[in-house]
Amino acid sequence: MSQRTLVLLKPDAVRRSLVGEIVGRIEKKADWRIVALELRTLDRATLEQHYAEHVGKPFYEPLVEFMASGPVVALVAEGERVIEGVRRLAGPTDPIAAEPGSIRGDFGTITRENLIHASDSEESAERELKIFFPGLV
Ligand code: CMP
Repeated sequence: MSQRTLVLLKPDAVRRSLVGEIVGRIEKKADWRIVALELRTLDRATLEQHYAEHVGKPFYEPLVEFMASGPVVALVAEGERVIEGVRRLAGPTDPIAAEPGSIRGDFGTITRENLIHASDSEESAERELKIFFPGLV
């Protein structure tokens, strides 16, 4: 089943020059394609929309501040079961708990700066793609 997912390479990934490494892992999966990609500094309004489900949580404010602290790479990946697949490549939220071999397991240490966001379901993908790439057909 071909799907699309929204991926953000967070400011830590860009600052640490890990964009090529991370995009490469997505690109190398058979038959997946990058169909949009842009370096972008996110404003607060976009982040508030994106992280609406986390409003009020203790990590919310530092998360928004971190996500606005430098450019991110926003991209859309397309292909067979890409929503689940990119989540598997990323590993779980806590990089110390993430398996070595996953992006967070290989490169991350602290939970907030966990390098990558990827939509977690078809519903989230649809919602997030509209926020970040409203014109994509
Ligand atoms: P992600 O799963 O992409 O989206 C929510 C983000 O909030 C998560 O990645 C982390 O960057 C951050 N986050 C989630 N839980 C915590 C936490 N307990 N402490 C700090 N940051 C968190």
